[in-house]
Amino acid sequence: MDNMDWFFMIHSNTKREGPGLDAVTLNIWHSLTGTGRMQKGLDVGCGPGAQTLTLAQNTNIYWTAVDNHQPFLDRLKETSGEMGLGAKIATVNASMFELPFKENEFDVIWSEGAIYIMGFEQGLTGWQKYLKPGGYLVVSEISWLKPKTKIPEECLNFWTEEYPGMAITEENIAIGRKCGYKVVDTVLLPEEGWWEYYLPHDENMDRLCREHPGNKELIQVVEIEKKERNMYRKYSDCYGYVFYVLQKKMI
Ligand SMILES: C[S@@+](CC[C@H](N)C(=O)[O-])C[C@H]1O[C@@H](n2cnc3c(N)ncnc32)[C@H](O)[C@@H]1O
Repeated sequence: MDNMDWFFMIHSNTKREGPGLDAVTLNIWHSLTGTGRMQKGLDVGCGPGAQTLTLAQNTNIYWTAVDNHQPFLDRLKETSGEMGLGAKIATVNASMFELPFKENEFDVIWSEGAIYIMGFEQGLTGWQKYLKPGGYLVVSEISWLKPKTKIPEECLNFWTEEYPGMAITEENIAIGRKCGYKVVDTVLLPEEGWWEYYLPHDENMDRLCREHPGNKELIQVVEIEKKERNMYRKYSDCYGYVFYVLQKKMI
């Protein structure tokens, strides 16, 4: 098994593949206007689908959940069936870089913790055409919470290497406007949402390390994962996940 295999062993059978909280997803949904008239939603980079399930359970619209890792889609399919939501969610294996949908197809596009794969601006630009005029784009993106000059070097170096595109909230708001969206709101994910993501993965790591003592590749992957958590433990005041609630302008 190589490092990637161990990575996916750690990242399997978990509720979330990125920081998030059902209550935050739901509060943002309820803050949108015109939801009663919406028919179709798209969840990009859905992972195992925590947010897709919350949205499908609490809305009357039909959700299409896209990811390029089939095991996540299989898990979402299974869970949605168990929850009686099978008829409200379709899963599609596709790349977020080339989505197989029509222009103006969706009333709302949702994406938690996944836009970083394209880059914030590229995602905002690339997905816009699939959204109806007046439709919402809700994305969560890891963001600096203060100017970079105020971030301790250890934290700045770590994230500059991991994600050079990470910007401060105000910069992302400006990007939203530049890309032709109205910036309706920003919502900071509470710290609890990070631990809802990290803790189940920690349990997987502990179990795998017990089952495969001394495995070199596993130890390497675990060290990288632990470093990220320790960074968050120390510097959670410096960065966080921010939800950007954007609305495509009417033409
Ligand atoms: C950090 S996870 C977030 C998953 C989920 N939204 C959540 O919060 O639990 C990012 C997701 O993007 C998916 N992904 C990575 N590259 C992708 C691509 N090119 N197209 C579609 N999905 C991709 C991964 O498989 C993963 O499920």
